[in-house]
Amino acid sequence: MPVHLHILISAGPTQEPIDPVRFLSNRSSGRMGYALVRAALAAKHRVTLVTGPVAIKPPEGCRVIGVKTAREMRRALLRHFPTADVVFQVAAVADYRPVVNFRKKIKKITRTLTLKLRRNPDILAEMARKKRRGQILVGFAAETHAALSYAREKLVRKRLDFIVVNDVSNKAIGFESHDNAVVVIARDGRQVRFPRQPKTLLAQRILEVVLL
Ligand code: PMT
Repeated sequence: MPVHLHILISAGPTQEPIDPVRFLSNRSSGRMGYALVRAALAAKHRVTLVTGPVAIKPPEGCRVIGVKTAREMRRALLRHFPTADVVFQVAAVADYRPVVNFRKKIKKITRTLTLKLRRNPDILAEMARKKRRGQILVGFAAETHAALSYAREKLVRKRLDFIVVNDVSNKAIGFESHDNAVVVIARDGRQVRFPRQPKTLLAQRILEVVLL
């Protein structure tokens, strides 16, 4: 594998519009993904970052593609996927989007309001189907319980090379926080556990395990 790789990283949440002023989203801050971008740049790799809307600034020195919805993220990732050597799919992609994106602001006329949701495309699974020989695909798994068994199931079902599991029920790690604690599981069953530490340090460790 060449020393200077093209690394494609997604980060942050997606926003799924309900009407002109409202959307469905999640708590991803982008910190974990951006930390991986910094670690990859520090190791002299070429980085493409596909990012959902976040409050932090993207690192200098990488190509940045800003997106909002899961479908926009899918288009951006699939455009850059063919030339990527390694993909880190860190983004918290919304699993569902409202079936209707109302053109006008929904007025509060009724006592209850039902929103119908449709499944978004599974971008990671689609990249896995399109993967060429030698490409490395790393998924992240945000779990609140039975983390390892769900993550192993995702690793196999989505045909990944690695899955990075974090327990997002713990408020000190995972979503929004500066720290994280993860288990990296390889396709061959190898497992490396990293205790709680700043995402900036953890990103370097994850990169080492994946590129070793
Ligand atoms: O951004 P931070 O605040 O720093 O938080 C980091 C994080 C908690 C968001 C990150 O570490 C993390 O766990 N990211 C994955 C979140 C997630 O969506 O997990 P999941 O278990 O629902 O999905 C599994 C994998 O499939 C993920 O790689 C996800 O990007 C991918 N996926 C999911 C749904 C979908 N429609 N398309 C996808 O590609």
